[in-house]
Amino acid sequence: MATKKKSTGKTKASSTKAALTKASGAKVSGKVAPATGKLGVMIVGLGAVATTMIAGVEAVRRGLAKPIGSLTQMGTIRLGKRTDNKSPLIRDFVPLADLNDVVFTGWDIFKDTVYESAAHAKVLDEKTLEKLKPYLEKIKPMPAVFDQYYVKRLHGTHVKKGKNKRDLADQVIADIRNFKKTVDRVVMIWAGSTEIFLEPTAVHQTIEAFEKGLETDDIGIAPSQIYAYAALSEGVPFANGAPNLTVDIPALIELSKRNAAPICGKDFKTGQTFMKTVLAPAFKARMIGVSGWFSTNILGNRDGEVLDDPQSFKTKEESKLGSLEYIFQPELYPDLYKDLYHKIRINYYPPRGDDKEAWDNIDIFGWLGYPMQVKVNFLCRDSILAAPIALDLVLFLDLAKRTPELRSKGIQEWLSFYLKSPQTAAGLYPEHDLFIQSMKLKNTLRHIMGADLITHLGLEYYD
Ligand SMILES: NC(=O)c1ccc[n+]([C@@H]2O[C@H](COP(=O)([O-])OP(=O)(O)OC[C@H]3O[C@@H](n4cnc5c(N)ncnc54)[C@H](O)[C@@H]3O)[C@@H](O)[C@H]2O)c1
Repeated sequence: MATKKKSTGKTKASSTKAALTKASGAKVSGKVAPATGKLGVMIVGLGAVATTMIAGVEAVRRGLAKPIGSLTQMGTIRLGKRTDNKSPLIRDFVPLADLNDVVFTGWDIFKDTVYESAAHAKVLDEKTLEKLKPYLEKIKPMPAVFDQYYVKRLHGTHVKKGKNKRDLADQVIADIRNFKKTVDRVVMIWAGSTEIFLEPTAVHQTIEAFEKGLETDDIGIAPSQIYAYAALSEGVPFANGAPNLTVDIPALIELSKRNAAPICGKDFKTGQTFMKTVLAPAFKARMIGVSGWFSTNILGNRDGEVLDDPQSFKTKEESKLGSLEYIFQPELYPDLYKDLYHKIRINYYPPRGDDKEAWDNIDIFGWLGYPMQVKVNFLCRDSILAAPIALDLVLFLDLAKRTPELRSKGIQEWLSFYLKSPQTAAGLYPEHDLFIQSMKLKNTLRHIMGADLITHLGLEYYD
């Protein structure tokens, strides 16, 4: 077994940055604090996605595999003009935590270790898991905050008991404080199941109302919100991989700002919606009309089982439906998109396990209204697509926390790139187009490092 390498990321990042500054003349602000020491990652829900991320990070650390799909690990960023030929790795340009400095812990409603849970999820093959077993079986979940009212299909056995929701939040805060003693910084991510559909009520409007609701066990406060409240109270950034309401409420947005604990949108953008936010902008850019978009999926993992419950499906459906409406802007283009019929189905089909299959039938029309069709059949692996997204969100939220200009803004819209439901300031429509999201993300990195933004204007090449 290979021994863990000592972290070299920080030194490499800072020396590369110095070299870049010298060579390109870009102003490096120096305002982003370095990623010194250990980054603790607290994961709510050690299921398929979480265990695939943890096992993957360990496999990468040992040189057994490559972090494919992770922008923070493999992506580059262009600096300066196209003729400058400067495209460093993102992780050499901004001070991200080195994978060797990442430490995992988490909660689950079942007692299984990360090894047992990964074996149950059957995303990674037995050979890979066996190699990682000594590491994975050491990560044991802490008892969870859980209530079956919010996830009908699960019966949790490893759960915290408390006199009310306030007491449960305090227990999560105690877990965070204990973990903080062993690491230098902490980020929390929800990779737990999809909860039932909840709409904001009075209890979600202010921090005071929310805290009162914790005392009185308000039914509007779901377990995911108890974890999020605990994280944000402790100044810990929080990401949400599921479509749950969670931090999408004024009370927790306010708490995020007050405690400089960054948050972002929700629901990992992995399979079908990822494809939608690539294809829809292409149709729109060419002024191609769309009259119908039917999307269906078969999925057989525990996530699929939870989504088989109509109330959890409703939460997912809302999250998946939003993208087309915003991308097509039917109010601006009534001739092209006013009558679009958008339908989404998810069917639980156990034989496929984590290997989801998605079909899209897209009815489009072109010149003079003549109809055409596009069919997409995506045979994907759900957690293989989600794991690098979870990792990137954790690393970028940690970066945001160390960036004075970002950390007190609350919502990090530049992370919309990863999420089916981007979160925005009140009154602002979310940007779903994957390529606009990608530009926004990279320009944010350039901005915080004092490098010139890239506008793609390019007239200077013709002077
Ligand atoms: N895999 C993807 O492509 C993808 C994409 C978008 C969103 N998601 C969402 O990510 C989440 C995780 O997906 P998954 O495939 O890993 O599901 P999973 O069912 O394998 O894992 C979820 C885990 O969360 C645990 N859990 C549920 N409620 C909990 C609570 N209150 N506290 C602690 N643990 C709790 C469950 O016991 C389970 O182990 C789901 O909500 C899913 O909808 C996944």
